[in-house]
Amino acid sequence: MIFNKNNYQIFKQRRDYLLSLLRKEFPLLKKGIIFLFADFESERTVFRQDSSFYYLTGITEPGAVLLICLDGRQVLYLPNYGGIRQRWIKDCLIPDQPGISQILGVSQIKYLGDPCGRFSFSPIFSKDNYKNLLLDFSNFLNDNFVLQEEFEIFTLLDNMNSKYFMQINLYKIFLDIFPQIKEKTRDLGPLIHNLRRIKSEYEIDLIYKAVQITTFAHQAASKIIESERFEYEIQAIIESVFMQAGAKRPAFPSIVASGKNTTVLHYQNMDQKLKEKDLIVVDIGAEYDYYAADITRTYPIGGKFTERQRQIYDIVLQTQSYVESIAKPGIYLNNKNEPEKSLHHLAVKFLEKKDLEKYIVHGIGHFLGLDVHDVGDCNYPLVPGDVFTIEPGIYIPQENLGIRIEDDYLMTDQGVVCLSFQLPKTADEIEKMMQNSD
Ligand code: GLY
Ligand code: MN
Repeated sequence: MIFNKNNYQIFKQRRDYLLSLLRKEFPLLKKGIIFLFADFESERTVFRQDSSFYYLTGITEPGAVLLICLDGRQVLYLPNYGGIRQRWIKDCLIPDQPGISQILGVSQIKYLGDPCGRFSFSPIFSKDNYKNLLLDFSNFLNDNFVLQEEFEIFTLLDNMNSKYFMQINLYKIFLDIFPQIKEKTRDLGPLIHNLRRIKSEYEIDLIYKAVQITTFAHQAASKIIESERFEYEIQAIIESVFMQAGAKRPAFPSIVASGKNTTVLHYQNMDQKLKEKDLIVVDIGAEYDYYAADITRTYPIGGKFTERQRQIYDIVLQTQSYVESIAKPGIYLNNKNEPEKSLHHLAVKFLEKKDLEKYIVHGIGHFLGLDVHDVGDCNYPLVPGDVFTIEPGIYIPQENLGIRIEDDYLMTDQGVVCLSFQLPKTADEIEKMMQNSD
């Protein structure tokens, strides 16, 4: 099966919309190209497409390049495995598959270049493997220089958080080969990230599905949290529920942290034995059809919070309820330049009144979507269609006490709707869920 179940029209419409925005922004521009690069795979990890490439193409294969001309022509270039990949890994897109360009909504599909001789396409550049793309691109440049027309090249250059690392490396090779494009290249990141930030109904449905699967996994985990088990046993149940419920993978490495590990924010070892009366932070998210959930609950091992744990738990929960109540369009998720209108700064202020502000050591939340820490510029206030987490936490290492509560929210005209509302979260509800054996 070479097609996933995506409706490729959605992705084509996104590309058309992107083009219309570019035309609006550069009304005098007659010629231009958008260069979009897929990610590359590595042998040790299962491939997952770059989120922006996926957002605009729906194509889940590594190594591909999509070239979109401002006049609307769109050419997809695919690695040429010479038939080897199909024998080793899986069926893959090939240019001469009947009807395939129409299904994908592109004008033409070509191989990038000569057969690479392997089942996997190397990120190490070879001119032979990119022969066709290099020739087409060189023709495009020559035409434009001969005609002395204005043109621009748009691609993703934002390398914050190592995003687009592979793409930027490849583009740098293009810059070496075609130095004349250096001054003509613009970063498409801000535009694409703005588009990705506001979720359509279709995307919200997928996020909600990921949230539901993550809810099931929390419910299953809550039943088996008991002393003498290991953290990895809880992780195993969680990830098996994800896959049984139709999630392809966790949206990020699961965090199952007990005892002193509750104070380590992105704890990864998962090799500690659970101890009676300790807490365990379970911060997990399924990925469903490329969309992430991210939900955290903190459970008492043994099923009952101690008085101190409950005291801090209630404050974390109050902080979350407070942030929920003030989260309206126009407020920022986290903006240090306008602290009086920033959810993060207001949450810290709320904790100041309890003398606990020094124990919140991370941001109050982040956008959620194709990536768990999704793209989105925090300098723009929240608007309807934003999806984000609210996740206050208090971490007191000297008491081995870390508590985080995290839910996923959709911003609407009136304020936020909690997408993960079905998962219990008050201290009483958590204790009840742990006892309940249904
Ligand atoms: N759930 C992990 C994080 O938000 O960083
Ligand atoms: Mn989170």
